[in-house]
Amino acid sequence: MIVEGLLDGGLACPHCREGLTGVGSLSLGCSGCAVVFPIFDGIPHLHREKAIRGPDRLMRALYDSLGAFHDPGVRYALSLLQGTSESTLRQRIIAWLELDQLDDASRDSGPLRILEVGVGTGANLPFLADAIPPDREAIVWGVDLSRTMLATCARRARASGLDVSLAIADAHALPFADASFDRVFHVGGIGSYRDPRTALAEMARVAKPGTPIVVVDEELDRSAQPGILAHLAFRAVAFNQWRPRAPVEELPADAVDVEVAALSTFYYVLRFACGE
Ligand SMILES: C[S@@+](CC[C@H](N)C(=O)[O-])C[C@H]1O[C@@H](n2cnc3c(N)ncnc32)[C@H](O)[C@@H]1O
Repeated sequence: MIVEGLLDGGLACPHCREGLTGVGSLSLGCSGCAVVFPIFDGIPHLHREKAIRGPDRLMRALYDSLGAFHDPGVRYALSLLQGTSESTLRQRIIAWLELDQLDDASRDSGPLRILEVGVGTGANLPFLADAIPPDREAIVWGVDLSRTMLATCARRARASGLDVSLAIADAHALPFADASFDRVFHVGGIGSYRDPRTALAEMARVAKPGTPIVVVDEELDRSAQPGILAHLAFRAVAFNQWRPRAPVEELPADAVDVEVAALSTFYYVLRFACGE
């Protein structure tokens, strides 16, 4: 039953991109390279362990051990430090997805499919639920490397009223077929990924041609003329990045409609599309 539900979701092997099939009731197998992926607590683990290295391994260890502090940290400390509440920030992020501007063609191709890469504890899900047009059926996928973060996300997903599926997966090798999502977004993390260029290319690959891809991460908004305290606070928030800024130079060569803006004192938003 769990396996059948997952196989409806456009999953593909993260190594060779062939389709997946059920192997017993607790694993998925690749029909191309024959790798078997286990499912624990209803969540498939669709990554290659030896590919998780360097900063990704470090960040996973961090989120697996300190995941419980993530949500209070964002809600209270970060909001206080940058002077923008978490809910304002998340509403602004979801607005960039422009879910109110879906065309009729997307309606003809079935339920709306949305992917959050690095979904964490699912803090964006309630805001996504509010923004999805009420007359649209939607399927949401969230992938992340941290089991701790996804365990919290699974609880939040149930409360959101959305149809949410989760997978342990690496942003550098997404376990989905090409062109399988109407919207793809990512909030927080890409600045510390081992290879942001590959992660952006993967987001573009799984997005349908022309669909907006929205990426949010840390960058100090210098136009807000931040004081020394804001500089220090920002350095603490972006401790894991050498040069925290929008990765415009890392976008795929066919990226179009590229826009970058300050979302708050500490966060940029980068939006682009590919493949039209
Ligand atoms: C700052 S949290 C952001 C969570 C969520 N998007 C939010 O807005 O609250 C970053 C998340 O990225 C995940 N992550 C880090 N490296 C990753 C990778 N290579 N692939 C997928 N997820 C990754 C971490 O486990 C963590 O849950």
